[in-house]
Amino acid sequence: RSFLQTVGRLTLATVVLSAGAFVYVVQRDRNPGEQLAHDPSKKTIVVLGSGWAATSLLKKLDTEYYNVVVISPHNYFLFTPLLPSVSVGTLEARSVIQPTRYITRHKTRRVEVYEGEAKSVDVKNKTVTFEDNSDIKGAVSTTTIPYDYLIYAVGAENQTFGIKGIREHACFLKELPDAEKLRTRLMDCVETAAFKGQAPSEIDRLMHIIVVGGGPTGVEFAGELHDFLVDDLHSWYPELANHLHISLIEALPNVLPVFSKQLIQYTESTFKANKIDILTRTMVKEVREKTVLVQGENKELREIPYGLLVWAAGNTSRQITRDLMAQLPNVQNQRRGLLVDDHLRLLGADGVFALGDCTATLYAPTAQVASQQGKYIGRVLEQMAKKEQLEATLRSLRVSPDAKPEEIEAVVKQINKVANIKPFHYSHQGSLAYIGSEKAVADLPLFNGNLATGGVATFLFWRSAYISNLLSLRNRFLVLNDWMKVKLFGRDVSRE
Ligand code: FAD
Ligand code: NAI
Repeated sequence: RSFLQTVGRLTLATVVLSAGAFVYVVQRDRNPGEQLAHDPSKKTIVVLGSGWAATSLLKKLDTEYYNVVVISPHNYFLFTPLLPSVSVGTLEARSVIQPTRYITRHKTRRVEVYEGEAKSVDVKNKTVTFEDNSDIKGAVSTTTIPYDYLIYAVGAENQTFGIKGIREHACFLKELPDAEKLRTRLMDCVETAAFKGQAPSEIDRLMHIIVVGGGPTGVEFAGELHDFLVDDLHSWYPELANHLHISLIEALPNVLPVFSKQLIQYTESTFKANKIDILTRTMVKEVREKTVLVQGENKELREIPYGLLVWAAGNTSRQITRDLMAQLPNVQNQRRGLLVDDHLRLLGADGVFALGDCTATLYAPTAQVASQQGKYIGRVLEQMAKKEQLEATLRSLRVSPDAKPEEIEAVVKQINKVANIKPFHYSHQGSLAYIGSEKAVADLPLFNGNLATGGVATFLFWRSAYISNLLSLRNRFLVLNDWMKVKLFGRDVSRE
């Protein structure tokens, strides 16, 4: 009995402590305090972007040392790993974003946040010109500001290889509005297929969803789409469910090329069991309004009808990045992205750090890389500021008649310590991807080797890994709530 009483008391204590911690974090997050004002004697850091790299930098950076300005066309951070779940309504859009001000308002010194798109960077004069690209514009909608340090983290855009028809007819899955548009288009296809008198061949076309690109984005979207079919379409559109057909088109011999062979096979066999067709060694040549033109291994062209086509064929540089490269033609000659040194300093420019998907490095364009780079630059900037402060102290000590030699020596030692800035080192935590029907695949660098795992346990690991990686308690709460809502009531099939 006393054992049970002890367990009971411990459980109660845990519940009370957790509730207390929850209330504390909520209160702290909701009530940002006073902040220091901008200080003209400090250097100005301009951050372009509010994605993985920029946000992890903002979280890490000690703003006491700098005046910080953030410019991004979106006033929020998007947790991209859960974007495919938004596209079919497993998660609500607002559950996977975090307003940038929820982060910056908690910094020591006020951070200026501007919703706007950087249009150009002048690396010679160290200025950025940005523009209000929203529907509502005030008297001022474009301006130019100077920087001492520029954090260039604008990400990448969708690679289309100049293939005809993609921008006009396909949907993408890169940003939040893409997922919302996809969800609406998907339901439009379903409702149009359900329209009175629709011919069976037209129903088949409308219910054929083609995903182009067998990388993680395409695979995860196809998996989520399959769940939507099994969990919801069968219940609410029983007459149509059997017409839904998912095809995944990939130019290479297999999907998920960066995963291990065993996990590729696991994914392909799971897709086969889920009746998702994988067309490998197949290149999309043109996207038309209702059909897509593809070329298989035998070089023959064929036209496949579709209702919805999702283009997930990788990344390319944004226009602003290409313009930046053009300013530095002797050193910036990689089409893939910006070239940086091992401290992430942009080659050919002074005071510019380039991070994340906009760069061409040895690393894959992933959130893991971008966030580690952001954190690293946060640390580097702090070291640089400390070094400058110590150098100023040293200068005044050297001219002071009262300064003792040991005092000067101590400061020199400290300078040498902070001046030792190590190059960026990436630590790979593994790759995870959801493949549908509550299964996920994971390549994890554990036990000095690689652990390749797939299945339901991996799915639970996937969910817990993402929950713990979400930026805030608020996001965790919203995502858990959405998962529970879908489990209880299914996905909402109304079209917005
Ligand atoms: P982004 O996060 O894309 O941020 C770029 C920022 O710059 C955005 O805030 C954008 O609004 C802003 N911006 C754009 N243009 C301008 C401009 N002109 N001026 C100012 N700001 C601008 N990686 C993983 O490691 N694991 C995953 O599970 C994973 N899942 C993914 C799922 C999907 C659907 C997608 C699309 C990607 C996924 N990735 C994943 C990849 C990951 O999202 C990217 O590698 C990561 O976002 C790169 O971070 P970034 O900061 O360089 O760019
Ligand atoms: P990707 O570049 O990884 O894959 C795109 C695929 O499209 C390639 O396999 C390519 O062969 C194929 N392709 C290109 N053109 C084609 C054409 N014309 N016809 C047919 N196939 C064509 O792009 P993705 O999936 O968007 O990923 C981008 C980055 O984001 C990657 O680094 C990826 O690792 C990361 N990411 C990671 C995720 C995860 O870890 N779960 C999820 C999503 C993205």
